[in-house]
Amino acid sequence: MSILEQMKRLDDMPESYKTMSMEEMEARVRAIKERFGKRLFIPGHHYQKDEVIQFADATGDSLGLAQVAAQNGEAEYIVFCGVHFMAETADILTGDHQKVILPDMRAGCSMADMAEISQVERAWPILQKLFSDEILPLTYVNSTAAIKAFVGRYGGAVVTSSNAKKMVEWAFTQKERIFFLPDQHLGRNTAYELGISLDEMAVWDPHADHLEYNGDIKKAKVILWKGHCSVHENFTVRHIEHIRKTKPDMRIIVHPECSWDVVQKADDAGSTKYIIETIRNAPSGSKWAIGTEMNLVNRLMHEHPDKEIISLNPYMCPCLTMNRIDLPHLLWALEALEKGIVVNQITVPEAIAKDAKQALDRMLALA
Ligand code: 13P
Ligand code: SF4
Repeated sequence: MSILEQMKRLDDMPESYKTMSMEEMEARVRAIKERFGKRLFIPGHHYQKDEVIQFADATGDSLGLAQVAAQNGEAEYIVFCGVHFMAETADILTGDHQKVILPDMRAGCSMADMAEISQVERAWPILQKLFSDEILPLTYVNSTAAIKAFVGRYGGAVVTSSNAKKMVEWAFTQKERIFFLPDQHLGRNTAYELGISLDEMAVWDPHADHLEYNGDIKKAKVILWKGHCSVHENFTVRHIEHIRKTKPDMRIIVHPECSWDVVQKADDAGSTKYIIETIRNAPSGSKWAIGTEMNLVNRLMHEHPDKEIISLNPYMCPCLTMNRIDLPHLLWALEALEKGIVVNQITVPEAIAKDAKQALDRMLALA
């Protein structure tokens, strides 16, 4: 079966939704939301399309959405407009009486897919042997529930881009070293900000089962998983150099999922929430080149017509997996619920959820 056919199999939405007008779909979603009232809750990540985000009951970054999920005890249905790992996190943090739904099962995350639990379980005994017990696992929230559970079992925690610095600092109060999964860039950028030099960082290659490091490995304080975000890797130093040459009065702000050299050469770096707040608080007339997902950059351009805003990469596209959640899929999931059918429910098995919750709770307690 081709990849295209496999992807189609994950999508059960009837064809009729594809031909409906936007107006009709919007009216139907609005009416369903009214009929459900507080029984329905729609969280939406900042990278979602406008056609979807207009119906979100709460918008936020990964941390914000994990917090609202943990606090919402009353909604029977949580229709998550984001990607798979976020819906899993919501399922772990909500009660048994609540059902989490992802409108399109193809909304995954290429970074989360770069760390499989079987690979982590192969790496861990090798690292344990090398560093005895002096290593604590931390995982970026962009990871599977199974990896969060692994981290929870070994005393570690989840981090998001909003609290990575605080969580890495905390980790070093627990153990001498950290094992940071799955985004090498967020791990490297955060550790560097905390004063750890690049030569104190090693990289675990999960395909070769090999630790990349030059020198005495015992000096390594941070072991980075060799994963990355395929969206944020599209911002390069050449883009920064181009802006510096052509628009020298423009400030450059990037997400810490960008590579270390990009973050070093930018004027500022921070989570999705940090970028939004920085632009919101910037003076009228200020000029910004932003290195993050394109739906968000477009929204910021639209919301701040008094500021000059461009994408750091002029050929940037939205995150394709985030973009899978569109109005037809949202409407389909909601109309199914009205008929008493729960489509695309995300359920994390009890044993995994229990350990993953420990890792999430350690983060939420400090966030
Ligand atoms: P934040 O929402 O934590 O900024 O992360 C961005 C992201 O890539 C979500 O997938
Ligand atoms: Fe994953 Fe990157 Fe898309 Fe975020 S932007 S969901 S990290 S692929």
